[in-house]
Amino acid sequence: MPWDHGYFSSSSYTAGVYRELAPAWLDFAALLKGHQPPRSHEGEAFAYLELGSGMGLGLCLLAAAYPEGRFTGIDFQPDHIVHSRRLAQQLGLSNIQFQEADFLRLASDPGSLAAAHHYVVAHGIATWITAPIQQALLQLAAAALNPGGIFYCSYNTFPGWLGASAFQHLGELLRQRQGDASAAQAFQQAAASLTSLLGSEESPSALALAQPALRRRLAQIPTQSPAYLLQEYANQGWQPLYVAELHQRCAAHKLRFHASATLPENFLELLPANVRSVVQAATDPTLRQSLQDLAINQSFRRDLFLRGVASSTDSELRQRLGLINLRLQEAPATETISFETSFGQVSGVPERYQQVEACLAQGPRSFGQVLEDTQLKLAELAKIVSLLLHAGRLGFDRCACADFERARHVNEQLLTLIRSGRSYANLLAPASGSSVGFSLVEVLLLEGQRRQLGGRELEQHLLDALKAMGRSLKGEPAPLLSAFSERQPRLQALGVLP
Ligand SMILES: C[S@@+](CC[C@H](N)C(=O)[O-])C[C@H]1O[C@@H](n2cnc3c(N)ncnc32)[C@H](O)[C@@H]1O
Repeated sequence: MPWDHGYFSSSSYTAGVYRELAPAWLDFAALLKGHQPPRSHEGEAFAYLELGSGMGLGLCLLAAAYPEGRFTGIDFQPDHIVHSRRLAQQLGLSNIQFQEADFLRLASDPGSLAAAHHYVVAHGIATWITAPIQQALLQLAAAALNPGGIFYCSYNTFPGWLGASAFQHLGELLRQRQGDASAAQAFQQAAASLTSLLGSEESPSALALAQPALRRRLAQIPTQSPAYLLQEYANQGWQPLYVAELHQRCAAHKLRFHASATLPENFLELLPANVRSVVQAATDPTLRQSLQDLAINQSFRRDLFLRGVASSTDSELRQRLGLINLRLQEAPATETISFETSFGQVSGVPERYQQVEACLAQGPRSFGQVLEDTQLKLAELAKIVSLLLHAGRLGFDRCACADFERARHVNEQLLTLIRSGRSYANLLAPASGSSVGFSLVEVLLLEGQRRQLGGRELEQHLLDALKAMGRSLKGEPAPLLSAFSERQPRLQALGVLP
């Protein structure tokens, strides 16, 4: 067997950042379903392990946001480890390390990783690797977790990927025949062939009638980066799972499903009325999750598993939830808000959301303070906060524990790296312990502003700088300038920009 066990290792992955991996987010999701998180309060020291840390950007940003944490990233691709270590060094981080290692080897001998972590995360790994490697991943996650710790595992699921599995199957067949050198073309060719097999919109084929969403997914393939396409689809182990299949495999390693890091999914009452009662009627938790996924055509899950549940009284949970610090990240809503969720569009009683946002508009508050100020019921507030966090309107507040000086240094380094052509698209937001998207255009606009340019001169600076990098704008620069100016106060409030 080759060292990569059929995982696509001929090129590197994209540098992604995922908000659900932040300890504050994981704690809140765990609390929603009644588990006392591994940290008794924000700012407490902890150990965090990422399995399959890829290019390491997400983990580096977490290490910068949580100076009190100790972070370890594991990946078997030497290119990924070289990149990650260099990035950690460039950002001046001393609370993070990256190890080049294979899940299969570590599962049989976890060494110093054993039972040493409060959080173990594996984002986008479990359904991209072959069965023996997946079993090793779960075994290792369980072994590395402290009892009571949280294991985050995100993965592709059925039924949402049923149509795309036809595309992956064809692309993989072509790749195996054409070789890794033209792997990206193999998947483009598969998309083109399969699109032809769908027939026209007026005269669809049997496949198009059975998989109406496939046409839209195939249309996106030419716009997706080769790095993403290959790491997503070009793996022998690519195999989305039904939720019950993964939950049963986790249970074999004492990892019990607890909650979803996709926060709205913890509130079944948000399901559309026509399917809600069938899902809610199921008393068995696995069956309920299965019915939910079938009802919403689920394609991606972010599940939290526990190795040992910390039993707590209602009052203990209420107390811990009360300590969660929240901050408003947008201007408070004055109109009805509609939330895009995997359950469809959700809109609630506008006065309640507005009440919560108005309370937080006065400044960061703990969940307990918001509860007291708004006089909402705890379950109602938990749901509202979950939806507002999901929509990005709220964030967690980390002002008391963040190191703003260090964050400033990290962001200056990231700006330089993006300016030099690195395809990173995030800056650190220390006030919320998270990160924000930050495009190359914004980097160049900021650079121009720092040179005291404005108006036409700033537009010209943007166009010239892009041209020098071999890039160009699709539209006009003026709207980008005004969008950036509008965004700046929010970036300053989050500590992203000085
Ligand atoms: C789809 S990528 C996800 C990377 C990262 N978590 C992210 O979301 O950006 C999967 C990662 O798992 C790593 N990986 C796959 N099989 C592995 C194994 N057997 N041992 C260690 N790492 C592995 C790959 O090198 C790759 O970086």
